[in-house]
Parts: sequence; structure tokens; C-alpha cells
Amino acid sequence: MDPIQTDRLILRNFKQGDAADLLAYLHQPRVSCFLSLKLEDLGAAEAEVKTRSTSDEHIAVCLRTPDKLIGDMFCMAEPPDTYSVGWNFNADFQGAGLASEAARALFEYLFTVKEARRLYAFVEEDNLPSRRLCERLGMRKEGLFKEFISFRTDDEGVPVFENTMQYALLRKEWVA
Ligand SMILES: CC(C)(COP(=O)(O)OP(=O)(O)OC[C@H]1O[C@@H](n2cnc3c(N)ncnc32)[C@H](O)[C@@H]1OP(=O)(O)O)[C@@H](O)C(=O)NCCC(=O)NCCS
Repeated sequence: MDPIQTDRLILRNFKQGDAADLLAYLHQPRVSCFLSLKLEDLGAAEAEVKTRSTSDEHIAVCLRTPDKLIGDMFCMAEPPDTYSVGWNFNADFQGAGLASEAARALFEYLFTVKEARRLYAFVEEDNLPSRRLCERLGMRKEGLFKEFISFRTDDEGVPVFENTMQYALLRKEWVA
């Protein structure tokens, strides 16, 4: 993708040099849905950056000056015109509106350049910062799926199931 510039950020493809910043927040994922993305060391982060750099589905969110990775978003196409979206930011950069700024730019790109008709996101019921972000973006709460998915087990090895919410936004709602 062509880089997208906002007031404080650049959204771009991943590139060599992002590994240390990616490791900084994926060494210990903050939420269970990203546990499978845990990176053990810099070598693993370099391999992950290399994989992500070949795809427009993974978007690096960087401060403008200096160009520093502070989080990422994904947008997975479901043809013909739906995208599943999500976000994961370094906790050091939380609470400053940066995720909102990045997601707004991504939504604008998906609705205009990619001609998306519908965007949706899955959010665990107890993930209040992500639910607030969805609501700030104007996404509608579409449903609550009880014990929908398990990302981890308890001390006895029993799967822990999460209640998952679905939020969505149509292009006509975004435009309005
Ligand atoms: C979900 C996540 C991206 C939200 O990040 P965030 O920084 O809270 O989101 P925003 O960028 O919208 O920032 C909003 C907060 O910044 C505050 N803020 C400060 N300055 C601001 C500004 N200039 N503009 C807008 N908001 C500002 C807002 O008041 C708000 O605070 P609040 O949530 O306490 O009400 C982040 O918590 C995260 O990456 N979590 C781990 C991964 C995760 O859970 N991913 C989602 C899985 S479903």
C-alpha cells in the first residue's frame, strides 16, 4: 500500500528495521486473542516482520518523526467487499488517541480506495479499551457470542472460553 499520513502518524507496510519495536509489544501480548503471536526474541521478530512486509493485510502504525513502530492493524479481505479489522498497540503509546487516529485513517482508506461496503471487528467482552475504540469509530454493536472461542487453558489445562462481541460499520454509516 502507499503510505498514509495523518497528523501524528504514518500507516505503511512493515519493513526491515521494525523488529525491535514489534518485539517490544509482542514479547508479552496484552490480550489473550494475540497470545498466539507471542515473539520469543529478536530473531523471531525479524522473521515476523519479513512475513508481514509482503502483505497489505498487516499495517504498521508509526510515529512520523522519528519513523517508529508503535502498533499495528490488520484488515483481512472477505470478498467481495467486507473486511475484518483489528488493532494492537504498544501500551507505552496508549491513552493519547493514536489508535483512534490510525483506525480512522484505515477506515477512510478501506471505504474509499478499497471500496469496502462493510467493516467488522471481533472484541472480547472484557476488553473495554478496544470496545471504547470501536464505539469512538462509530461502529455498531451487532452481537455478543457467549463462550465463542478459547485462546488459553486454565491451570488444569481446561480451555477458557471468551465471550466475544462483534462490532461493524457500513460505508453509508461512515459517510453519514
Ligand atoms: C485497544 C487499543 C488499541 C486502544 O488504545 P487507546 O490508546 O485506548 O485508544 P485511542 O487511541 O482511541 O485512545 C483513546 C484514549 O486516549 C485518550 N486521549 C488522550 N489524548 C487524546 C487525543 N488527543 N485524542 C483522542 N483521545 C485522546 C482518550 O480520552 C481515551 O482514553 P479512555 O480510553 O481512557 O477514555 C489498545 O488498548 C491496545 O492495543 N490494546 C491491546 C491489544 C488489543 O486489545 N487489541 C484489540 C483486540 S480486540
